Amino acid sequence: MRVIVCEDYNELSLKAAKILASQVTIKPDSVLGLATGSTPEGMYANLAQMNKDGEVDFSDVTTFNLDEYYPIADENDQSYHYFMNKHLFSKVNINPENINLLSGTTQSPDEECAAYDKKIKNAGGIDLQVLGIGKNGHIGFNEPEANLNAKTHLTALTQSTIKANSRFFENESDVPTHALTMGIRSILLSRKIILLASGAGKHKVVKELLEGGINTHIPATMLKVHRDVTLICDKAAYYGMKLGVDIGGTEIKFGVLNDENEIIYKESKPTPKSITGNEFAKFISDACLDIAGKMPISTLGVGTPGIISNGLVSSVNLPLDNFPLAQTLEESTHIPTTVCNDATCAALGESLLGCKSKNLLLLTLGTGIGGGIIADGKIYEGCGSAGEIGHFCIEYDGRPCPCGLKGCFEQYASVSALIADAEATAKAHPESILGKKLEQNGFLNGLTFFDALDEGCPFAKEVFERYTDYLAAGINSLKNIFDPEIIVLSGGISAVGDVLTHALSQKVNSDIPIKTSILQNDAGIIGAASL
Ligand code: PGA
Repeated sequence: MRVIVCEDYNELSLKAAKILASQVTIKPDSVLGLATGSTPEGMYANLAQMNKDGEVDFSDVTTFNLDEYYPIADENDQSYHYFMNKHLFSKVNINPENINLLSGTTQSPDEECAAYDKKIKNAGGIDLQVLGIGKNGHIGFNEPEANLNAKTHLTALTQSTIKANSRFFENESDVPTHALTMGIRSILLSRKIILLASGAGKHKVVKELLEGGINTHIPATMLKVHRDVTLICDKAAYYGMKLGVDIGGTEIKFGVLNDENEIIYKESKPTPKSITGNEFAKFISDACLDIAGKMPISTLGVGTPGIISNGLVSSVNLPLDNFPLAQTLEESTHIPTTVCNDATCAALGESLLGCKSKNLLLLTLGTGIGGGIIADGKIYEGCGSAGEIGHFCIEYDGRPCPCGLKGCFEQYASVSALIADAEATAKAHPESILGKKLEQNGFLNGLTFFDALDEGCPFAKEVFERYTDYLAAGINSLKNIFDPEIIVLSGGISAVGDVLTHALSQKVNSDIPIKTSILQNDAGIIGAASL
């Protein structure tokens, strides 16, 4: 299979039109196999213009279209009769008698299909067949199945095709459930084939087509047995540039990874406040579209705080309450989108490019405690929200947690818990280094606390001992449950590095390595981009 990678859709459309025009110029009575769908529209527009400009003559050309919905009337504006007339036939000097489409109104589909194959044969076979490719790998309406039909036939459409094509109809329920289509053999009998693929949405299937073997579950792979197939695609369909978005309470980070998993672009924006879920999603999709305008993005992955259940995101610190974030972003960007918990994304990022371990547990220590579990190189999500390790019980009937439970791990081992203890201790000992820092600033934070510890404050040391006791107790339980190869600490506090990991290593009763995040701020975008 030859591959031509075009800069964009316009170049793809022009290139495809020129190939068709050359075919017709070399053999004026060519038999063309034509396709419908949004991809070839630009090619047809170019051909219409070339015909108008006298650059290509269709008067002796014969055409056979790949497929037609069934049942559907020719005049229905969703029929492929209507489509072809609108985009090509009414605009070029083709002889209407030489136009062939399967009839969507036939009473006997089997006879119609057999007669169609015969007619193609009698016309001398197809010289050049144009194909699009479905996201599910279909060509024509040859849907993924264990057995593909060789000849032209009546077929049921898969749910994914019905969904994909529903964009042309008012409702999904209006999409016909069946179609007549040339079969795989009918297509492969063509002398030359050009396969068109455009846009990020086609990247996955293009990659599967180019890298995978021949199989009926991606019917387009059957084209690999043909000796003259040219795939013409644009950069968005061909290159695997992945956009990762890491949503935080104060900023949203965006990063693009190339095929080698290197970050080739990064930016961040303040997290917008006081807006609705839809406005929030629009803010993100606008930023993504902006980036996609600068480079060919094939997939979008988003890490968000909160719980994700059945594709719906709920996050107390964001305007998301049972919000279909992935679906909304995918609809507005047209880039295949996956959404996952932010700590899980950070864990995936660390697993792939940071600590590089396939069995890893990541704890984000901050206002609360988040967690991400990577098992055998894959995210472990349970039914959707596994990894909420801030909320396992570390003390029965202990401190109340906003989640409604008592004694949650994060009430003892988060940075907020550390600072609360440090402030209470500083108030009780105002003359200590810690007490003075509280007095000077009016509050304590991670920085001032660790400064006090560094300066040898015995009370800061006491607080630190208590804190690491709890953190180590939690880590011991987590180690027993998950038995990871490595435990990674992330979040602002992990920047203190050795002081923390050394203390924990002494208190954890196993020799499991406890490391701070290597990727730090980039872990989330790398993980999100790699979803
Ligand atoms: P599309 O359809 O060009 O509208 O993406 C291609 C196909 O389903 O074959």
